[in-house]
Amino acid sequence: MKITRRHLLISSAAAAAAASFASRAFAAAPPLAKKDTYKVGFAQTESNNPWRLAQTKSMQDEAAKRGWQLVYTDAAGSAAKQVADVNSMIAQQVDLIFLAPREEVPLIPAIMAAKGANIPVILLDRNVDQSLAKPGEDYVTFIGSNFVEEGQRVADYLVAMGSDKKTIIQLEGTVGSSPANDRKKGFDDVIAKHPDYKIVASQSGDFARDKGRQVAETLLQAHPEANVIYAHNDEMAIGAIAALEAAGRKAGRDDCLVFSIDGGKEIVQLVVDGKVEAVVECNPRFGPKAFDTAVAYANGDQIPPVLINPDELYTPENAAKLIGSAY
Ligand code: AHR
Repeated sequence: MKITRRHLLISSAAAAAAASFASRAFAAAPPLAKKDTYKVGFAQTESNNPWRLAQTKSMQDEAAKRGWQLVYTDAAGSAAKQVADVNSMIAQQVDLIFLAPREEVPLIPAIMAAKGANIPVILLDRNVDQSLAKPGEDYVTFIGSNFVEEGQRVADYLVAMGSDKKTIIQLEGTVGSSPANDRKKGFDDVIAKHPDYKIVASQSGDFARDKGRQVAETLLQAHPEANVIYAHNDEMAIGAIAALEAAGRKAGRDDCLVFSIDGGKEIVQLVVDGKVEAVVECNPRFGPKAFDTAVAYANGDQIPPVLINPDELYTPENAAKLIGSAY
């Protein structure tokens, strides 16, 4: 994991947490009392894309269905704000916090603060640095996709295609976030075993459409020979298609293969249209599983340290058939 200067600035408390890590007592994560209804927090990372909106809706729908009170916050893309959001939930004495940590390190102090206040935390969709916080001790569990496997599946698909297109631009997600780190690792490790494929550039587009477009534009100018774009999410893939078209190029098998991760309706339609080659789904519908896990935890069930969501692979063969079930 790459730690930037920004991490160090916004999370000096994380450094303190890391320093005290070696000496702290390894107590179990705080318990959750058995009750008919709960007041729970959901600390969202940002709301700038359909994936995040679908995740939030799933959590809100599930809370409403069960009659639980949901304290919802949106960190608007700021890890520092997300730490403050969790602290505010602690002050409001929620029973449990669902946390989608924007980055792997800066949210550690928030997890430790909740633990200190005896409030259990369940991590949703993004993970934290496992050397600084542990499931079953500092938080209950992580629920989400296997991001390393997502990157591997894209690379495996590309290699299995046997296409002559082998010059790759990678658009990475938010620097320091677990999906960006792991999707890169999964992809790069497979590609490294196939020396005829080459990643000529790999840069963050921050999981955002316009940033993805801008970064793709620059990288395509620097590497006009590139004929594969692997984007860590749909938003950046759609931005990259705009960049390709602005450069007078075409997304698709005739010119530049585009791959993505997430699987919203818009990108699945682009698979149907032949502009995107394949998309590994990252399912954002967390509500039912998140709330079921909280109830199981209150009941005293043994909760596994990691709960992985099964994900679809959208390809030209199945996209038209499956688009109805995409979020
Ligand atoms: O953590 C999951 C990632 O975060 C999704 O792929 C992305 O679209 C979102 O912002």
